[in-house]
Amino acid sequence: MTDSSAFVRVCGLGELEEDTPKRVELDGTPVSVVRTEGEVFAIHDICSHANVSLAEGEVDDCHIECWLHGSRFDLRSGKPDALPATRPVPVYPVKIEGDDVLVSLTQES
Ligand code: FES
Repeated sequence: MTDSSAFVRVCGLGELEEDTPKRVELDGTPVSVVRTEGEVFAIHDICSHANVSLAEGEVDDCHIECWLHGSRFDLRSGKPDALPATRPVPVYPVKIEGDDVLVSLTQES
């Protein structure tokens, strides 16, 4: 059985371009990894409004914008700040070890 609180390496820090989300899969769960404003965030890669990849959206001011209808999710909390999405998207803890980016599927909120 997999320990869901375990941190797993998802990519190298050098693979992340500033403000360009990278889609990865962790135990079959799609996760968007985002490097922005000097930090790295991990957010579930499916919009809470419809089945759309958030990694294809734009990053700005610590938010990721869904490309389909424009809801913006806070990368720190997963909460949307504009309709049509009303439900948050899960966010996950991130650890940086050297050049490795590790994510745990334990939800932060
Ligand atoms: S699918 Fe993301 S806001 Fe509608």
